[in-house]
Amino acid sequence: MRRSDLPESFVLGTATAAYQIEGATHEDGRGESIWDAFTRVPGAIADGSTADVADDHYHRYAEDVALMGDLGFDAYRFSIAWPRIQPDGKGAPNRAGIDFYRRLAGGLRDRGITPWATLYHWDLPQALEDRGGWLERDTARRFADYAEQVSDALGDLVTDWITLNEPWCSAFLGYASGHHAPGRTVGSRAAHAAHHLLLGHGHALEALRATVPSARVGTTLNLYSVQPAGDSTADADAARRIDGLSNRLFLDPVLTGSYPADVLDDLGETEWFAEHATDDDLRLISAPIDFLGVNYYSRHTVASGFTPAKDAPASAYPGSEHVRFVKTGAPVTQMGWEIHPDGMVDVLRQANALAPSLPLYITENGAAYPDRVDADGRIDDGARTEYLEAHLEAARDAIDSGLPLGGYFIWSLIDNWEWAWGYSRRFGLVHVDYRTQRRTPKRSAAWMADFLRDAVPASRA
Ligand code: FCB
Repeated sequence: MRRSDLPESFVLGTATAAYQIEGATHEDGRGESIWDAFTRVPGAIADGSTADVADDHYHRYAEDVALMGDLGFDAYRFSIAWPRIQPDGKGAPNRAGIDFYRRLAGGLRDRGITPWATLYHWDLPQALEDRGGWLERDTARRFADYAEQVSDALGDLVTDWITLNEPWCSAFLGYASGHHAPGRTVGSRAAHAAHHLLLGHGHALEALRATVPSARVGTTLNLYSVQPAGDSTADADAARRIDGLSNRLFLDPVLTGSYPADVLDDLGETEWFAEHATDDDLRLISAPIDFLGVNYYSRHTVASGFTPAKDAPASAYPGSEHVRFVKTGAPVTQMGWEIHPDGMVDVLRQANALAPSLPLYITENGAAYPDRVDADGRIDDGARTEYLEAHLEAARDAIDSGLPLGGYFIWSLIDNWEWAWGYSRRFGLVHVDYRTQRRTPKRSAAWMADFLRDAVPASRA
């Protein structure tokens, strides 16, 4: 597979998130986020680490921008830390925070790399969580103010905007299973958080459109290819439920303006949504977007008939606790996520069926492996290279089958702090030695650099 197998306009980039790379959590007026608080909860983070330093990107961003320029990427998806802009989640913007993202976006543009900014990649100001977080409707309004400030401050440098990253994770890992910050376990009420996140998306979209008329705005969902383990109607129902909770609960309101009734029923939340998810809300949530971002990593194979133990930990799928996630025996990455490139085409097709002309972008795809630095200081990550090649082939297949896929972003540019896994999972094309902060491109980075060069016309090569 060569780059020239993809359309010339196809965007190739890498992705990161503020909290996973920046560090400097107490500098230049940044406020506390829910993740800062969560890292202090005993047992919440697998290796007991914090992201106080992470990749020290806040100080080394210029080196990281140079790296991606050297590798030859077209675009870079990063996120803006809300607590750097509004330390308490409200009020006037913190100049130092704005200046950092202006330096970053400007540096990218100077290198010919298109900045793609995500407004919310999970780091809610703790002050807002203290007032109920995403379970409160007011948080969506606060998000609108923040979006307006950011677009005002960066709109001349950034054209491509993503409102939310993976609202499923924020709602159901944050408020149902409690595996992510803020670590709450409110059962099916986590769906209220999902609605408020989507409402926040709608408000932010409106603010961006008003402030930056030329902006291209989308949102990013994590979609899974879901299949039943067997032929029984019970397994088919399990698949309907998990597809519903992970995919349709988000795709339907954004792309069609309504919530899937069967999913609200599974959750036992029909009444709450009837009362609180108003027609005006849904009009905002389904206002036209310029593209949909899709994060794709793996598939779910599900069966019915599981009886959870009485003391089982809280589920990320409230109301569907009887569903069992089955291992098919297919190869997995270090996360335990099955490698299933065809599933990427499935989820793109599912989104496309609801909005046939809407451009789609893979805004994250990548793999964690236990990389080893060899005696020569090299990192020979053949498995990651194969994973990426297989998914780039799936991207080509998607395009060949007529899907409007416009680009593909690799998670991630550099190894980083992987949420509840801390530093114990590495997704980077570039290795980071956390003692010295030294960056070393892995074999996968060299492979991508070759892949990217293929499209450079001979006269410019
Ligand atoms: C996604 C997140 C991203 C990273 C990857 C591995 O769910 O958006 O921050 O953690 O998974």
